[in-house]
Amino acid sequence: MKQIVIFGSGKGSNLQNILNYFVGSCLKVRLVVSDKPNSGCLDIAKCRSIPSFFINDWESIEKKIKIIQPDLIVLAGFLKKIPKEFIENCGCPIVNIHPSLLPKFGGKGMYGKKVHQAVIDGKESKSGITIHFVNENYDEGNIIFQKEIDLWDGITVEDLEIEIHKLEKEWFPKVIQEVLGLED
Ligand code: GRF
Repeated sequence: MKQIVIFGSGKGSNLQNILNYFVGSCLKVRLVVSDKPNSGCLDIAKCRSIPSFFINDWESIEKKIKIIQPDLIVLAGFLKKIPKEFIENCGCPIVNIHPSLLPKFGGKGMYGKKVHQAVIDGKESKSGITIHFVNENYDEGNIIFQKEIDLWDGITVEDLEIEIHKLEKEWFPKVIQEVLGLED
């Protein structure tokens, strides 16, 4: 059995998707952490009886992680920067999903619709998702996986958001599975 912990700040649609994908598998989500008290992630976790906490200080998070000793920490829409000390002390890799083809359109403040707006303003012909290991800089760790899509004339931020969400839902659980060395 592999154990993961998920950190999220937003709606939690990736969390929900990961939970659905791994139902009845040998992966268990042991804990959900949010830095936002009203994050959808906390509601989703509660509905599934997964321990979940609104925590804002790294010392408390680290204590909980030390007890669980997860195989992987997954950032699913987590907006806070992960401190170097936490990365070094948590005892497992950390992966993040970003809604652009990094290194383009990443970094501080680049999340959600802002990313898609920048892609459209930049007249890019492609966008996509990046799943990467986390280091102490925003969106800069080693890339594990990217999937791209072609953009079309007149594409709106909302269109792009829908397309990117489809990619996230299809690929994030599969990449998590692969990083953990689980069978398909
Ligand atoms: C996703 O689009 C992800 O790429 C980004 O934050 C968003 C989180 O959405 N890092 P949700 O909370 O999973 O619905």
